[in-house]
Amino acid sequence: MILIMIFPLFFLSLTSCQTQKVAEDNEQLSREERIVIRFSHIVGEKTPKGMAARKFASLVKEKSNGFVEVQVFPNGYLYKDGEEIDALLRGDIQMIAPATAKISSYVPEWQAIDLPFAFQDTDEVHEYLEGNVGNKLLNELERKGFYPLGMWENGFKQMTNTSKPLVKPEDFRGLRFRIMPSEIIRQQFLELKAELQTNSFNEVYQLLEKNKIDGQENTYSNIVSKGIHSQQKYMTVSNHGYLGYVVLLKKEFWDKLPEDIQQILQESIEEVTAWEKTMARKLNDESLQELKNCGCVEIHYLSEEEKQLWEEALKPIYQRFTNRFGAEYIKQLPRNKEAEH
Ligand code: SIN
Repeated sequence: MILIMIFPLFFLSLTSCQTQKVAEDNEQLSREERIVIRFSHIVGEKTPKGMAARKFASLVKEKSNGFVEVQVFPNGYLYKDGEEIDALLRGDIQMIAPATAKISSYVPEWQAIDLPFAFQDTDEVHEYLEGNVGNKLLNELERKGFYPLGMWENGFKQMTNTSKPLVKPEDFRGLRFRIMPSEIIRQQFLELKAELQTNSFNEVYQLLEKNKIDGQENTYSNIVSKGIHSQQKYMTVSNHGYLGYVVLLKKEFWDKLPEDIQQILQESIEEVTAWEKTMARKLNDESLQELKNCGCVEIHYLSEEEKQLWEEALKPIYQRFTNRFGAEYIKQLPRNKEAEH
């Protein structure tokens, strides 16, 4: 339940001596008197999102002198993948950070982020999201009742499976993959003639263990944090898709927050986001190292020629996307903008 009391916030503008005193007093506040923000997410704590969520909670606590308490629930303990967005809109939780693919059922244009090989690196993703297209995508979320507080990232996805090295597009034929719930991701695997099923992230390990699926796509840090590699024989470093997150609150909840609290949340997210980008890169580098060292997966690095074959096989998706959402989302991709000049 949302526990907000519009408690007088005069302490936030007190002199430092007074602030010190109030800070002590705030520690004595009952749960009913504080603002409690329940932040539910589905990944482990030692992941970019997991670590960013904890840092955000501690920054908010510090900046509000304990008046705002962000309670973080990782690993889908409170709500699973398919449940957390509805729980946010119902007001059962106040904050989530789903993968962009997962909000595409509310704003389908977000599928642009999952277009195959759309971005070469994270800088390109940032450029795209900071431009017109990014603004449009964020505005659409507001129209659907969300307040997008910020964007966090994980990194690029790689392919893993139990059967064979995935080198050519034909290698996917008939293999069973778990995917995130996203039409554009579904289309990618269908183009590759794979079989697919949509499951929550926390089910992937067991599905692999019980041989209900052959493979999956994810970032190094997600693969390692869930031990997915221990159930897989092959990994192709393809960097075919970006995995990023939108940090969301319900707009109605946000609008009711006092302005100084909104400012604290905004400042905290900006600080955490800058830190999160570096930390995500580091965690993914460390996880790749672990995958190399474990001796459990055979790693294939997609060559430029092989990548071109994959891109060619997945090309029809771009036309379908254009037909449905317009050419602007494709034209604004940094690689296409460069080609224009
Ligand atoms: C996440 O990073 O939030 C989960 C990604 C997935 O569902 O594969």
